Amino acid sequence: MVQQVFIGPLIHTKEDGELIIKKHVAIVIEDGKIITVVENLTNHKEMTDFLADYDVDKVCILSHEEFIIPGFIDCHIHAVQFPNLGLGYDKCLLDWLETYTFPLEKKYNDTEFAEQVFEAVLKRTIQTGTTTACYFASLYSDASLILAKKAAKMGQRAFIGKVNMNTPRKDEYYESTEKSIKDTMAFIEAVEQIGNPLVRPVITPRFALSCDMKLMQELARIAKAKDLHIQSHVSENKDEIKAVKNSFPEQSSYTAVYDAAGLLTNKTVLAHGVHLEDSELAILKQRGTAVIHCPSSNIHLRSGLCDVQRLRANNIKIGLGTDISGGSSYNMLEEIRSVLKVSNSLSVMKDDYIPLNYKDVFHMATLGSAKALSIEDKVGNLVPGKEFDALIINLNAKDSLLDNFQEYTLEEKLQRFIYSGDDRNITSVYIKGRKVK
Ligand code: GUN
Ligand code: FE
Repeated sequence: MVQQVFIGPLIHTKEDGELIIKKHVAIVIEDGKIITVVENLTNHKEMTDFLADYDVDKVCILSHEEFIIPGFIDCHIHAVQFPNLGLGYDKCLLDWLETYTFPLEKKYNDTEFAEQVFEAVLKRTIQTGTTTACYFASLYSDASLILAKKAAKMGQRAFIGKVNMNTPRKDEYYESTEKSIKDTMAFIEAVEQIGNPLVRPVITPRFALSCDMKLMQELARIAKAKDLHIQSHVSENKDEIKAVKNSFPEQSSYTAVYDAAGLLTNKTVLAHGVHLEDSELAILKQRGTAVIHCPSSNIHLRSGLCDVQRLRANNIKIGLGTDISGGSSYNMLEEIRSVLKVSNSLSVMKDDYIPLNYKDVFHMATLGSAKALSIEDKVGNLVPGKEFDALIINLNAKDSLLDNFQEYTLEEKLQRFIYSGDDRNITSVYIKGRKVK
């Protein structure tokens, strides 16, 4: 049994989004799981007495400048699109996919290329504090498995989706229904064989334009039989929505297509949801399906400004996603800032719009995203019973670009980190108690 104790300030959020700031706690961890959080150890004797009770292999006492927060959860990221970071924002979604994205993704039948890219994906996302990532991997199951193995090796909590696409295309970047199902089943089995509870397969029909109803229904059946998560895209761009309505004229909406296939469950996450109709919100609410907000991508590809307050008012679960490479940064801090910018823009455009604040978005990037992925029993904040996925933040870190000219309260420190910090201020990253940075 490996025990660890972290002593210092803790900032996280509650189920309802309320920000909790504890000046001095001791978090006791056993085999990666938080067993106790002791508050108010105010003097040296209390602390020594407390520590005497534990078989402590490792005690980490934070300095005056440090504090602990939960790790970031990126609910939507395309690992294969890393080489295109920062490229191709002169086009909107459908042209962008054809011009830049599909040609890149076809290269992953080269497993050496996959190895190289995915090594960087894991290294970079961990470095910037992503403790859980929900990945779109590749159409090719070999490449997808490489990503799963890297995540397991490097210690990230990850959902890995072998992408499904059976709509025929001239460039041959698709697969037959039979191959899609067969490879998906084999991929699921191979991920399970890795035997790492942090790394799970996720059923991944790319979007309604790249899958037919039969394939989506088959995938829904697999997800149900194996109790797996499901991920896809929905209502991102107006031309895309029109095309979906043309392809599925018998369905009343884009969301209704997925619902008809049986793909909407409380373990389904749908990226974007920029232009959802009221009837679609009702379906999502009923199914417990989450929308993943991807503001950076929505701006770069000019998809639209997603009204998160409307989703919140309709009790839809909302997670946060970088959507690399629709988004231009894998850094969740950047994505958090994009949420704030989009929300502020909406409030400038509409008189009575109440913008989200940094606390709302800190919640969205941590416990909100955990709830979106239905993993809030395991992660999202740092309470007993959950696993220790955490970041240690230091605004005075050696290489920090933030200067501290005065004393700041803990709440101010969090605010400064959110708006003005960077990965240099994330001095350590822990996933299930394992130090990965
Ligand atoms: N819709 C279907 N595929 C994609 C993709 O790769 N990125 C984004 N942003 N939207 C999509
Ligand atoms: Fe995406």
